[in-house]
Amino acid sequence: MAKTAANEELKAAFEQHLEQTEEHISRLERVFEDLGEKPKGTKCEAMKGLIEEGKRMMEESNDEDVRDAAMIAAAQKVEHYEIATYGTLRTYAEMLGHDDQADLLQETLDEEKDTDENLTELAVTCVNLEAEEGEEEEDEEGEEKSEQKTQPAKGQR
Ligand SMILES: [Fe+2]
Repeated sequence: MAKTAANEELKAAFEQHLEQTEEHISRLERVFEDLGEKPKGTKCEAMKGLIEEGKRMMEESNDEDVRDAAMIAAAQKVEHYEIATYGTLRTYAEMLGHDDQADLLQETLDEEKDTDENLTELAVTCVNLEAEEGEEEEDEEGEEKSEQKTQPAKGQR
């Protein structure tokens, strides 16, 4: 997503979160290690579905600003899923008395929440507005074309 974002600020936000995600993975590995468990990767069907849905949304427009807005929508769905998951894990860790691991999971949870808020900020302050302008221009072009088509008919009457 960082590569395909047209808006520079959005691109930077995705790149920053990508770096954070690497750190999230390291934290998870630490949590597993601390608890004497081995992490194993499994395919997350829900996340796979969210990513596919995001791709489909982005294919619906050729306008780069509209695609950026769709990208934010898709990314926020992913962030919310992560927030729910890390929140649950943090609570489980607390309940089981694994305070250090709960703190690590809380750090990740806070970063996911910050990312979600940043994306909302970017959406409402610029990306959605640019997307709206782009769509209006497209609509106006469409109207002009349909007016041209109907003009000869009017003239014949
Ligand atoms: Fe995330």
